[in-house]
Amino acid sequence: MNPEINTLLMKQANHERYAATCYTAMAYWCEDQEYMGFAEFFHTQAKEEIEHSEKFFAHLVDRCVMPVLEATPAPRCDYKKLKELADMALELEMANSKGIHSCYAAAIALKDFASMPLLLEFINEQVEEEAWANKMVALLSRSDCAGALYSLDRHIVKEMA
Ligand SMILES: [Fe+2]
Ligand SMILES: [Fe+2]
Repeated sequence: MNPEINTLLMKQANHERYAATCYTAMAYWCEDQEYMGFAEFFHTQAKEEIEHSEKFFAHLVDRCVMPVLEATPAPRCDYKKLKELADMALELEMANSKGIHSCYAAAIALKDFASMPLLLEFINEQVEEEAWANKMVALLSRSDCAGALYSLDRHIVKEMA
């Protein structure tokens, strides 16, 4: 396996793990603030990001590359309001997309055909991921009072589906 592709896929796998940690921290912030709908949604996102990271690591193992799990940076915990979580989620998803696009660009340049199906699957996945994050930002931008936030929290899982 080309070492450049190997490094990029490893980096992406670790970034997905970092995203998982960030979503877990967001879920606990929501639980602490009694936004139980958002908490459920972010716990689910955390699990999905772990699955994504495992898919990248599995691909590396299949191609005889030993996965290196790096220390993930501490996630942000000091949110002031729900909207900041949505902004952070969008930032994370955009970073994920960027990393995946870099992997795909390298795969094309280096003719690494074996990684392309996996990367295309994730390129597609990221369109949906950015879509829910954008929608969440929009919904929270117009929900400023406690009543609107309470109502949104009750429906957020369905809204994001
Ligand atoms: Fe992901
Ligand atoms: Fe994601």
